[in-house]
Amino acid sequence: MTILAVETSCDDTCAAVLSDESRVLSSIVSSQVALHELYGGIVPELASRRHCENIRWVVEEALTEADLGLEDIDAVCVTRGPGLVGSLLVGVAYAKSLAYARKIPLIGVNHVEGHLLSPMLTNPNLDFPFIGLVVSGGHTSLYLAKAWHDYELLGRTIDDAAGEAFDKVARMLELGFPGGPVIEKRARSGNPEAVKLPRAWLAKDSLDFSFSGLKTAVRTAIERQGGLSSDNDNATFVNDLAASFQEAVTAVLLRKTLLAAERHQVENVAFAGGVSCNGYLRQRMSNAAQAQGLNFFLAPPQFCTDNGAMIALVGQRRLAAGLYDDLSLNPSSRLPL
Ligand code: KG4
Ligand code: ZN
Repeated sequence: MTILAVETSCDDTCAAVLSDESRVLSSIVSSQVALHELYGGIVPELASRRHCENIRWVVEEALTEADLGLEDIDAVCVTRGPGLVGSLLVGVAYAKSLAYARKIPLIGVNHVEGHLLSPMLTNPNLDFPFIGLVVSGGHTSLYLAKAWHDYELLGRTIDDAAGEAFDKVARMLELGFPGGPVIEKRARSGNPEAVKLPRAWLAKDSLDFSFSGLKTAVRTAIERQGGLSSDNDNATFVNDLAASFQEAVTAVLLRKTLLAAERHQVENVAFAGGVSCNGYLRQRMSNAAQAQGLNFFLAPPQFCTDNGAMIALVGQRRLAAGLYDDLSLNPSSRLPL
């Protein structure tokens, strides 16, 4: 079955086409970063308006790149949650119209399930069971993925998501939005041991995460320095703080993932979501996995951040399992996995 997927859960308008053999024929992402960076973060109302403007041409481009027409599409999948409800609504309404007009199946997909399984898009040898860390702007959750559609939540953030912490720290350091890529860049010139920052291990053996204390510690470090300035010392300070922050986040994500793998006797580990684009995190986890004899899987960066291909992959499996929806499908901003 050739699948068209639409993803509009947050600020990117995405569409993708997946072939019968689960090959990505196209994956188009229209980023709204330029719009939202003016405000230092995502403005939900602006995001949904922009999705309305973009959705049609993003889908058209996905079809053109796949060299297919709408008549070649056997089913349409769409992210139904979690996410910003106004944004989700645009994708869901669009997919419903298409399914109705073309008389093809409609499949609602959980965004987090898309992220969790996204490493499978390029790693056909990633098998269940695996430990999957979904680490993005909205989520930091650790799962035991037992089989398709069978996931156990092992731990999650009790406050900020890791990506949210990257974004907030970047704002404190006046580095712009989104924070992840720019912190990674500045951290390359910094010393990860320069600023002592806390790691929130929480209760003994807990697989939950917390990043709000770390964020506060960064704010305190800036205040102790007397605020930011424009001299060279300031650039060194920002680089060091960025590197120390990145290391603090990495240390916690790594240790808890390894603990989960050990506890559940699982050999396969996968990272997904926007923060898993981070080269430092990827390298550190790759080294740690090798040292522990684990197989470590990652998606390429274009499938780590929000994209339609991961939604198409899950949708194709749901369709094969008979798990499709009808036109009463509604978005759900807090949809659990
Ligand atoms: O998966 P995603 O595109 O959207 C959500 O579902 O949230 O993730 C976006 C998040 C942002 O918080 C962004 O700062 C973070 O991923 N991110 C990164 C990097 N690239 C994107 N965080 C750390 N390092 C990066 N290189
Ligand atoms: Zn996402």
